[in-house]
Amino acid sequence: MISHSSFTVEPWSLRETGLDLDVIAQSESVFALSNGHVGWRGNLDEGEPHGLPGSYLNGVHELHPMPYAEAGYGFPESGQTVINVTDGKIIRLLVDDEPFDVRYGRLRSHERVLDLRSGLLQRTCEWTSPAGSTVRVRSTRLVSLTQRAIAAISYEVEALDTDIRLVVQSELVANEQLPQADGDPRVSAVLESPLQPEEHLAEGTRLRLVHCTALSGLRVAAAADHLVHGPPSTEASSESNDDTSRFTITSELAPGETLRLVKLVSYGWSGVRSLPAVRDQVEAALAGARVSGWQGLADEQREYLDAFWARADVEIDGDAQIQQAVRFALFHVLQAGARAEQRAIPSKGLTGSGYDGHSFWDTESFVLPLLTYTSPDSVAEVLRWRQATLPAARDRARTLGLRGATFPWRTIDGSECSGYWPAGTAAFHINADIADAVVRYVSLTGDEDFERETGVELLVETARLWRSTGHHDPDGHFHIDGVTGPDEYSAISDDNAYTNLMAQANLRAAVDAVERHVEQGAALGVDDEETAAWRDAAAAMTVPYDSALGVHEQSAGFTRHQVWDFAGTPPEHYPLMLHYPYFDLYRKQVIKQADLVLAMFFRGDVFDDEQKARNFAYYEQLTVRDSSLSACVQAVMAAEVGHLRLAYDYLGEAALMDLNDLENNTRDGLHIASLAGTWTALVAGFGGMRQRDGLLDFAPRLPEKLKRLAFTLQVLGRRLHVEITDSQTAYTLVEGEPLDIRHFGQPLTVSGKSPQTRPTPAVITRPAPEQPHGRVPRRR
Ligand code: BGC
Repeated sequence: MISHSSFTVEPWSLRETGLDLDVIAQSESVFALSNGHVGWRGNLDEGEPHGLPGSYLNGVHELHPMPYAEAGYGFPESGQTVINVTDGKIIRLLVDDEPFDVRYGRLRSHERVLDLRSGLLQRTCEWTSPAGSTVRVRSTRLVSLTQRAIAAISYEVEALDTDIRLVVQSELVANEQLPQADGDPRVSAVLESPLQPEEHLAEGTRLRLVHCTALSGLRVAAAADHLVHGPPSTEASSESNDDTSRFTITSELAPGETLRLVKLVSYGWSGVRSLPAVRDQVEAALAGARVSGWQGLADEQREYLDAFWARADVEIDGDAQIQQAVRFALFHVLQAGARAEQRAIPSKGLTGSGYDGHSFWDTESFVLPLLTYTSPDSVAEVLRWRQATLPAARDRARTLGLRGATFPWRTIDGSECSGYWPAGTAAFHINADIADAVVRYVSLTGDEDFERETGVELLVETARLWRSTGHHDPDGHFHIDGVTGPDEYSAISDDNAYTNLMAQANLRAAVDAVERHVEQGAALGVDDEETAAWRDAAAAMTVPYDSALGVHEQSAGFTRHQVWDFAGTPPEHYPLMLHYPYFDLYRKQVIKQADLVLAMFFRGDVFDDEQKARNFAYYEQLTVRDSSLSACVQAVMAAEVGHLRLAYDYLGEAALMDLNDLENNTRDGLHIASLAGTWTALVAGFGGMRQRDGLLDFAPRLPEKLKRLAFTLQVLGRRLHVEITDSQTAYTLVEGEPLDIRHFGQPLTVSGKSPQTRPTPAVITRPAPEQPHGRVPRRR
């Protein structure tokens, strides 16, 4: 996309200078606006042409049966799919008697700008109708970060060279027709007309539609109100039916005259509230927005984002494209989580319907690390959502004959939606990933109330799961057999090193938590015998190692499998899962995404430097990166073991995943984990930041092309600024009490406003590792 000629590279915005209908679906994803509660894809105001119309409300989904050719005990019976809710974005325009449609007439100019500081999406275009009348249309859109039910559009039409008669139809539209799915498993199921009408209204400037879903039992309401400024000839009317509520304005404009419309839209939904209650909810939200008005909403948006950038910005000298990409990434990750408030963060955020709107471990292992250091409150909210889904997770564990809780591999409402066991529930590591997110959040915020009320329960129930999933062999070693690790090209393996090491940390964290919160532990029925069992399991955890090769095994026996025929695999056969049977992928050494390499990042404490370097080189030649969750992790570990050039290439891949549409599926929504991974590649990769023994430890080193990297972090109520150049790093405490950190293992206390500067030691050079044939990352 930004390599596409209509996208420019700018530090604080994403600008498209022409409209290319070949990439319209991708542009709708990158221009999506969201606050984590409401999401609007960047569809054109007039609704068509479109790639994928999309308006989403976090949590609003429909159920569909999951039929199995051969059913089995414990298979989930019902799937969930995010639905495209009532579209409040639509503003159609008739110029004289021609609909404004960019496919007809002449589009003289078309520009869209997503301004990352103001949070506004601006569109300006000039269009000459087939009959020869020319108009300038300016629209500005926001999804409010401060009023979570609200989105708004300011829409202006100006006559340029002749008198024109205009009709503007501002609408709420339910059950829009969607393009058919193409069989790619990463695309969502398409449900025909998922919204059943309950109420429609059009009264003066006000519109409302209320619908409900048939099976998931959710009631969805959308309401809109309008302010119109136009010449005296301007008139308005409104009408509604089951699926459309329309406010129509007619006006006559002389050249230079403008018609301006402000459309305020509010959304609400509930699984329990009555029709009058949901109706009142959207009307109340609209009343609040009316008080703020367009300018008030825009000002609040700017203020919210100013505060975000002050605590989260990343600055880069030496690579303008990465500078733009990391801010774009931060903006979208913020949007995905900002107001999710006790709901999941889906793997696409609210930017598209890919992966059916499900959330995965992407949230805890990729998105929450960034948010913990930049917007910690939203992390607590996501983890409270996990806690709220514990009843379903406990049921799932019982069904599987396990103790504690088994969180779903993919879900919207907390119940398992994966019908494919090997890359579904078998990926039990998600439970340890949730525990890891709890520990990270608590240790970086010191939020004891959260630990007591939410953290302990999540840690205890996941520790119970591990104790019951694994077993001690006759020699006392603890094994977790028959599970799938992060690499989805291996499945149902024994002793996946990542899973075992994360489970070990989970078990230990549960012991610590109940020691600190005795009452909560007792209320959950934890006794000394149980904590002793957790300790024993953690102490005896197996981490498979191949002593002949001198590398850790991704899982027991992995290094003895046949190596995939990379040389015989043509480039168009990637991603492999769309071209080869899983049975063949599973029995060979071929890795979809960082697995053991991720274990070395998250559990760096159990590997020494030499092991890391050897393991990295070994797994590098097997990893094909068919998941967008891989490049960022490889960037981090490449940097740690000294391959800075390679790390830089991987940073590029993670950062440009969507802006360059590297996986050819940005049309279905953004890869939120990879966007978050851009930050991780910079901060944990080139910043070398790790958390060890409760302290932040930095080992900063830049690749040759980056001249400066600076970032800000929120840690234990302090604000720390880190600025790295090729020879040194400056640490500045921007806010708060003195903070103890480490620079290359050496203790350092940062206090006062003046920077503490430390030199960068020389890097140990090692032979460059190799990638599978044809899978070398693009050179930056
Ligand atoms: C990856 C998973 C990931 C999922 C959703 C899959 O392709 O292998 O690790 O959770 O996509 O992003």
